[in-house]
Amino acid sequence: MKRTLLLGGLIIAIVALGSMATAAPTYIGAEKCKMCHKIQYESWGQTKHAKATEAAKASTEWKFEAACLTCHATNKDEAMAGVQCEACHGPGSEYKPIAVMKDKAKAVAAGLVIPTQATCDGCHDGKEHHKAITFDATIVHAHKAPAK
Ligand code: HEC
Ligand code: HEC
Ligand code: HEC
Ligand code: HEC
Repeated sequence: MKRTLLLGGLIIAIVALGSMATAAPTYIGAEKCKMCHKIQYESWGQTKHAKATEAAKASTEWKFEAACLTCHATNKDEAMAGVQCEACHGPGSEYKPIAVMKDKAKAVAAGLVIPTQATCDGCHDGKEHHKAITFDATIVHAHKAPAK
């Protein structure tokens, strides 16, 4: 009896672990990326993206409403203020472990997005005040020096 219970517990634990590995990625916030990507974080902090929620709320031209957060926040969530890392790179809960991050294929499989023109187009959609923008990696944040 005791044995069956133990075995049952073990199976439940394995199933739980398995579902953890395939969990849908969730947003963790820019602060969590900072410890490993300081250059990108500090320079991103100087861009308008970092202050996009404040700017929308302070607008005298348009009335702020929840719909603004689709582009003026991360994951449409006011608590995730600004166009943060994950608005371009995808939610990081599954790719953030160092072992996953070091392996690009694994990281991408875990939800990491390497941004392209389509990423920008999601918000810079060419309508109303959201003019279209040409993809340019040099304006989003500074990049680490290429490895020698
Ligand atoms: C525990 C440290 C760590 C954390 C936390 C972390 N990363 Fe990474 N990341 C790395 C390492 C190591 C690499 C691979 C070497 C490199 O490119 O710096 C990497 C690579 C990357 C790359 C380049 C992938 C490629 O090969 O082109 C991106 C983009 C990235 N990380 C974004 C993020 C974002 C966004 C977050 C937060 C959601 C994050 N990382 C959190 C350590 C981390
Ligand atoms: C479809 C995405 C999208 C939506 C929805 C959106 N915006 Fe924007 N907004 C942008 C983009 C992209 C820019 C940057 C435009 C540029 O400079 O090319 C911008 C710029 C702005 C600016 C200028 C900020 C500055 O630093 O000068 C203000 C203010 C603003 N938006 C307010 C709002 C408000 C308020 C709402 C809701 C009523 C809203 N936006 C909805 C994408 C959006
Ligand atoms: C989640 C939505 C979102 C995504 C994705 C996004 N942006 Fe933005 N971007 C904004 C908003 C909102 C603003 C306006 C911020 C402000 O002025 O307060 C903005 C502003 C900018 C600005 C500053 C414009 C100015 O008037 O100075 C540049 C440059 C820019 N984005 C480039 C890019 C590029 C390049 C990409 C793709 C790699 C991109 N953005 C992806 C929402 C987004
Ligand atoms: C507006 C979109 C956007 C935002 C916001 C953004 N990135 Fe990036 N990121 C890019 C683009 C574009 C590249 C270059 C992709 C390529 O290689 O073509 C990049 C590349 C990277 C890389 C690869 C190494 C390098 O420096 O090129 C890392 C690491 C990274 N970003 C981390 C971050 C972190 C951390 C944040 C938040 C603090 C962040 N990014 C915010 C668009 C963005």
